[in-house]
Amino acid sequence: MSTIEHLTAADHAAVGCLLREAYADYAERIGLDAWKRLGDGLAQAAGQLRDAEIAGVRGTAGLDAVVFYFPPGKSDEKIFPREWASLRLLGVARSARGRGLSRQLTEWCIARARQQGAAEIGLHTSEAMTTARGLYERMGFVVDGDLPMNFGLRYWRFRRSLEGG
Ligand SMILES: CC(C)(COP(=O)(O)OP(=O)(O)OC[C@H]1O[C@@H](n2cnc3c(N)ncnc32)[C@H](O)[C@@H]1OP(=O)(O)O)[C@@H](O)C(=O)NCCC(=O)NCCS
Repeated sequence: MSTIEHLTAADHAAVGCLLREAYADYAERIGLDAWKRLGDGLAQAAGQLRDAEIAGVRGTAGLDAVVFYFPPGKSDEKIFPREWASLRLLGVARSARGRGLSRQLTEWCIARARQQGAAEIGLHTSEAMTTARGLYERMGFVVDGDLPMNFGLRYWRFRRSLEGG
């Protein structure tokens, strides 16, 4: 098991770099203009999404993985009911993939949401993010409706109940 820690403002630049590297997987598919918009958003996300707790795993040469977790009451109300917890911007460096880090970070978010008394945890993902989608479904997330298209991709909201198992 890798150690997950809360990241701070000192890590924001590294978080931006890691997210840009991870999501560059989709640059070709969405095209140059959309990638510029997405890449700029990713680079600035840590500084802008002030309601997030940013959790990550450090490697020998920098960050290996990150996730943004929003406590119940702090989720983006354009996407989720405010009282849900939510997770966004899960990303793993290419060199650290296949070691279970994204599962571990998603489990960390679920545990934290439970600890904070949330009844539901949500996330959103797109048709391009097939690896992540498979993981979320195996972890009990279910589709909870369509979201507006973005970057030329279909997006869905997913939810997972935290009541019971
Ligand atoms: C998707 C991503 C987060 C996966 O990270 P990872 O740490 O390599 O994933 P893990 O090692 O934890 O594997 C997670 C699951 O996906 C499976 N998986 C991993 N890579 C896979 C691949 N290339 N194809 C199919 N399944 C794969 C694993 O078998 C594992 O399944 P299980 O836990 O149910 O047994 C990473 O590839 C990434 O950062 N991609 C770009 C950004 C992105 O898409 N983020 C998600 C946005 S919603």
